Amino acid sequence: DMGGHDTYMHKEISEQPDAVDRVLRGRIDDRFSTVHLGGLNLDPREARTIRRIKILGCGTSYHAGLIGASLIEGMARIPADAEPASEFRYRNPVVDPDTLYIAVSQSGETYDVLAAVQELKRKGARVLGVVNVVGSAIAREADGGVYVHAGPEVCVVSTKCFTNTVVAFALLALHLGRIRDLSVTDGKRIIEGLRKLPAQIEEILKTEDEIKSIAAEYAGAQSMMFIGRVRGYPVALEASLKLKEISYIHAEAYPASELKHGPLALIEPALPTVAIVPDDDLLEKNRAALEEIKARSGRILAVAHQPQAKADHTIVVPKNEDELDPILMGIPLQLFAYHTALAMGRDIDKPRNLAKSVTVE
Ligand code: F6R
Repeated sequence: DMGGHDTYMHKEISEQPDAVDRVLRGRIDDRFSTVHLGGLNLDPREARTIRRIKILGCGTSYHAGLIGASLIEGMARIPADAEPASEFRYRNPVVDPDTLYIAVSQSGETYDVLAAVQELKRKGARVLGVVNVVGSAIAREADGGVYVHAGPEVCVVSTKCFTNTVVAFALLALHLGRIRDLSVTDGKRIIEGLRKLPAQIEEILKTEDEIKSIAAEYAGAQSMMFIGRVRGYPVALEASLKLKEISYIHAEAYPASELKHGPLALIEPALPTVAIVPDDDLLEKNRAALEEIKARSGRILAVAHQPQAKADHTIVVPKNEDELDPILMGIPLQLFAYHTALAMGRDIDKPRNLAKSVTVE
């Protein structure tokens, strides 16, 4: 049942304010400025001994894991990184007893992720899951974890589950941070930011008509570049994946800082760039990248907290805490991919060559 929407993708994008509300519900503890995560299975003593965190997932879940790693590193000050589960499995990784491994999966059935979890467990590692489908294979195999509570996701490409997974990571980061060195003040600040998310997402969804008319201008492109810096880079990766999956426009994502080391050669009027430009300490750096692109006559669509003079179009999103901005900046680009693909007549819910969950090697 699409509940009045033309596609499941549109329905699921629209459900995000409620979905985010669900992942937060019952977990915030204002008294101690932290969050409770019932199924985590990690006591504070153990949480303090973690030396590293390694996040494993595929596709969109890997991208959510990249943002998750930066949230954990930022709030809990534990070195953290994310890697595609499939790559991890095949490189005979060193399994370290002081590392906490986290498997991320919407379906909980993705074979590459499941196989990585099983291999890690066989070697004695502790593995948590950040999973949407309750009771799925990865959820059962993990030692504990955080459910994402996005609700069923039917469209082949993931939207609301991506957003909720990132919010789940923010909760985990806050939880670990408050056990370790995150101050009460910072805990409060993040909690306030989390509580603002549903209404801010609602505000972004109201700009759909504007995003649709912008998308119409880019629908003919052969190829698009997506750039972002530090927190913005995984947002660029995810937005470019979404665009290619449903529109079949070739897209690639680069850290904005890497432009001058090669991809700048591609920039010309026929290759538009989508730039993630949050109002944070990297704003000036990001603006410099826009200038470099403009100097080569590249068209620019910016996703930013204020209109960008160098951009041909800016989608303005509401500001949250710096750490949580990536959650909001991804959302207009889901709508951008959606309307670009729709303008090109694509089958949004069933893109060619793709299946909802990849349960084979
Ligand atoms: C992209 C997409 C895929 C999945 C990937 C992992 O829109 O849906 O990239 O994210 O196949 O699936 P899960 O999260 O079920 O493990």
